[in-house]
Amino acid sequence: MKSSPKTFAVKSFGCQMNVYDGDRMAELMAAQGLTPADAADADLVVLNTCHIREKATEKVYSDIGRIRKDAGKQGRAPMIAIAGCVAQAEGAEIVRRAKVDVVVGPQAYHNLPDLVAKAARGEAALDTDMPVETKFGHLPARRRVPPSAFLTVQEGCDKFCTYCVVPYTRGAEVSRPWGAIVDEAQALVDAGAREITLLGQNVNAWTGTDARGRDGGLDALIRELDTVLGLARIRYTTSHPNDMTQKLIDAHADVEKLMPFLHLPVQAGSDRILKAMNRSHSRDSYLRILDRVRAARPDIALSGDFIVGFPGETDADFAETLSLVDAVGYAQAFSFKYSPRPGTPAAGMDDQIAPEVMDDRLQRLQAALNRDQSAFNAGVVGRTCDVLIERKGKLPGQMLGKSPWLQSVHLITDAGVGDMVEVDIVRADPNSLAGMERVKIAA
Ligand code: SAH
Ligand code: SF4
Ligand code: F3S
Repeated sequence: MKSSPKTFAVKSFGCQMNVYDGDRMAELMAAQGLTPADAADADLVVLNTCHIREKATEKVYSDIGRIRKDAGKQGRAPMIAIAGCVAQAEGAEIVRRAKVDVVVGPQAYHNLPDLVAKAARGEAALDTDMPVETKFGHLPARRRVPPSAFLTVQEGCDKFCTYCVVPYTRGAEVSRPWGAIVDEAQALVDAGAREITLLGQNVNAWTGTDARGRDGGLDALIRELDTVLGLARIRYTTSHPNDMTQKLIDAHADVEKLMPFLHLPVQAGSDRILKAMNRSHSRDSYLRILDRVRAARPDIALSGDFIVGFPGETDADFAETLSLVDAVGYAQAFSFKYSPRPGTPAAGMDDQIAPEVMDDRLQRLQAALNRDQSAFNAGVVGRTCDVLIERKGKLPGQMLGKSPWLQSVHLITDAGVGDMVEVDIVRADPNSLAGMERVKIAA
């Protein structure tokens, strides 16, 4: 039995939806009167976990061990709560293997305070339900948020790509109601947000009904958010190619606040592999979507996700991934070695690929992606753009922010966090752009 915690820390791993959930859990615990602390000193440590690849999952167990060991040296035994996708996938197993105090799934974390109270009484505290009534209605209002804020509008996935755990850990596709999203967007802006990134595992599958009873998709929601005063930028992620409607593409042409950036994972360039992955788009249908996106917004920055070494992937299949990369010219991308996940169809497929083959393919893919990212960044040098200032830089007077194309920009300026500054991009460094603030000439 442990006494009720007075301080807490939340550590999030994985995707942006987990970052959003982690922030909401922190707000929830703060509303209960607990004080935020460093993970090294907190009475309650919430690990908000990711199950997407084996490494991510194993990290949870090593983290639990480290937290206990470090606290043990100070004679403390903090309460440990496991939240997120590993909690959902392996709840009872974690309790058995690591003897944690609380396990709470991604759809149940509004119950975290109750679970913590139960654990403090020495009772079992595990909740991995996926209730019909959503967690969102039970979360406290936002008080203060950074200039760039996340807003989850959609959760879950019905796509069942054969390698992926998300449909099992996050459940079926659900859209949050229109009104709740608009209200939260307004609350975020009132609390200091200038940019909102709409989040969903399949964000472009979002649908809703507006106040006048009209049904609409993500494009309609974006057009409504375009009218929110004080909101300067809208982004959304992650999209699935099959839900990339022409209406959403059109929004990129004429909604000024919608930033010229699209993260559209493709995973592989070979139709045979895409089919085995159950991606339900082909190489060609994917490339045709990007043609339409570029027609709507010629300067758009494209981003993607890739998996190398899916079972059965041959050298010829992989060559098609490289040629797709050449054809697209991504501004940035994420690439991973295939990781077999328990319970997914691909984990049982023949022809699993040897680790050294995966290593080699990943290196070659990343070299191509880095080359294109550098070229994209170099292409922005000489342009003038708005930069949303997000935080202080390392040098005196230096501030860091983001370009419309989601690149990090550093500049010397008097502007503060949350300001939008007009900047000439003067140089592309390996991980960021150097900018110079435009001098405003008084009228
Ligand atoms: N909903 C998004 C992505 C969700 S997961 C989509 O449809 O693309 C984020 C990325 O992790 C995926 O795009 C994929 O590239 C990668 N990923 C998912 N499962 C994986 C696995 N078993 N092994 C390696 N990478 C994986
Ligand atoms: Fe996973 Fe595929 Fe769903 Fe993305 S679309 S979350 S990769 S199953
Ligand atoms: Fe990981 Fe779950 Fe997100 S598995 S990527 S935290 S949806």
